[in-house]
Formats: sequence, structure tokens, C-alpha cells
Amino acid sequence: MPLVTTKEMFEKAYKGGYAIGAFNVNNMEIVQGITEAAKELNAPLILQVSKGARAYANHTYLMKLVEAAVIETGLPIALHLDHGDSFELCKSCIDGGFTSVMIDASAKSFEDNIALTRQVVDYAHDHGVVVEAELGTLAGIEDEVNVSEEDSSYTRPEDVQEFVERTQCDSLAIAIGTSHGAYKFKPGTDPKLRLDILEEVERRLPGFPIVLHGSSSVPQEFVKTINENGGNMPGAIGIPEEQLRMAAKMAVCKINIDSDLRLAMTASIRQYFNEHPDHFDPRQYLGPGREAIKQMVKHKIVDVLGCDGKA
Ligand code: G3H
Ligand code: 13P
Ligand code: ZN
Repeated sequence: MPLVTTKEMFEKAYKGGYAIGAFNVNNMEIVQGITEAAKELNAPLILQVSKGARAYANHTYLMKLVEAAVIETGLPIALHLDHGDSFELCKSCIDGGFTSVMIDASAKSFEDNIALTRQVVDYAHDHGVVVEAELGTLAGIEDEVNVSEEDSSYTRPEDVQEFVERTQCDSLAIAIGTSHGAYKFKPGTDPKLRLDILEEVERRLPGFPIVLHGSSSVPQEFVKTINENGGNMPGAIGIPEEQLRMAAKMAVCKINIDSDLRLAMTASIRQYFNEHPDHFDPRQYLGPGREAIKQMVKHKIVDVLGCDGKA
């Protein structure tokens, strides 16, 4: 099976009340850890590449690693550009074989976001590629933000219909309380997803696939392992996984997870070096790092996304 777009995946996910995991890839061990997990659980998969990943690993290397994963797993896999910030970057990924791109013009005005998104959509659709757009900006990392500032960063449900109609995008990332990175909310706080906003978006866009970014939950045991093995990460928590599971049962069809994979891999490697200070063969520590990613992805597929057995 060649690389697929997300069209059919999202249709099935919407109807089936589950979401597809979109995991960021930067090197071979990350691709292998993710795809081995998906294969064992027969789960559909989105592998996504950021601008930074492309700069780090090179377009062709990533493309070929993902093609290898398709051959090895036989799974439906979409290759997606994460947070494309320009028409040129999206075009380059479309021309280079990606099956899905995100144009993230969410920091621009409503009209400028529509114009740039539409430009990418026109080019992408001419080439059989689907487009994710974003409306609203993810909540900030600081929990000191006052309510009105916080509210203003959430997606406004009253904007979504016009945005989708005018851009013709294929999926929409919305801001309902998640945030990017491993330093999200302070421990002891109670971060919540605004499922009421999601419900209202769903009412206005029935059947339309919604995307959640910033959906790592920052499992505390990994932060603890990192800090017990020479790391120095400040405490932080994410949106609890049960709430993401609820969103996956609603209109959310794609859930982006990167930081939790980074934490799992880093915790494993730090622990490995602490226990084996004399080792220096990269396979000795990258192997357990890959296995840690695999276990994390299996957990997300079963407990957060609910897409096991859906390939
Ligand atoms: O949302 C961003 C992803 O976690 C990718 O991060 O830009 O450091 O590759 P990156
Ligand atoms: P996390 O940093 O929460 O893993 O989010 C990743 C993401 O949204 C990639 O686009
Ligand atoms: Zn993101």
C-alpha cells in the first residue's frame, strides 16, 4: 500500500468515535518505535514532519524512512507536514511526496489566515494532497494568564463555518486548552479541555474532522526518571489523558503527540547511561530509546486514541 491521505482515515475515525495519532518523526529510531507499535496494534497512523525535523534530517531521508515503514508494516500511513508556515514550504512538501500538509497561519488576522490557507489548499488539491488549517491559538504555557486573555486564544465557534467554507481546508486544528511542549501547566493546577467549545464547533461543522495539537500529557514518571538520572526538568503537567480520550470520541480525528515521545526516549537514554557509564555504542542506548517510544505509542493508541484494530 502506498502512502495515503487522511481523508478515509478521518471519515472512519469520525464515525467510529476514535482519533488517529499524529506523531512527530526526526530519525530512524523514532520512525521505527512508532510504526512497530502501530503494526502490533493494527492502527492507522500519521507520521508528521516539522520544518525543524526537515532541517535536521533532510526531506529525502525522512521520506525514505517513512516509505520503509509503509513497506515493513503494510499499514495505512499518511505523511504530514506539521506547522507549515509558508506557501513555499507546503509546496515543497507536496512536490516532494507528502500526502498531507498543515498551513499554520493562526497567528495572522482572520482574513490573512483565510487567504494563505486558500492558496495552499488550491495547490494541494490540484496535487491530490489534503490540508489542515488552524484557527485560534493554543493556550499559553503560563497559568497566570487572566481569563479574558485566555479566552481570547480559544477558537471562536462562530468563525469556523465561514473559515472552512472560504478556505476549503480538509481538517481544522482548534484551540480548546491544549498547549505545546513539555512545560505546559504547573503541577497542582487543574488543566481542562474546553469540550463545550468542541461541541459547539461540531454542531456548526457536522462530520468535519477536528485536530488537537499540544496533546502530550507529560507523564510524571518520565520527568522523575529524567531528573533522577542527571536531568533538571522543572515540574509540569498536561491535559489529563481521559479528557483527550473524550475529545477523540467526539469530532477530534487527529491528535498530535510529540513531547511525550521525547520524554520517553530521553528518560530511557538517561537511565541507560547512568546504569552503563562505560558504554559507547549508539545501538546500546538508541535501542532502548526506540523501545520506550514504542511502549508510549502503544499506550496512546489504546488509552487515548482508541484506534487499535482500525487499520
Ligand atoms: O508542535 C511542534 C512539534 O512538537 C515539533 O517540534 O519544531 O521542535 O520539531 P519541532
Ligand atoms: P506536544 O508538544 O504536546 O507533544 O504537541 C505536539 C504537537 O502539537 C505537534 O504539532
Ligand atoms: Zn502542534
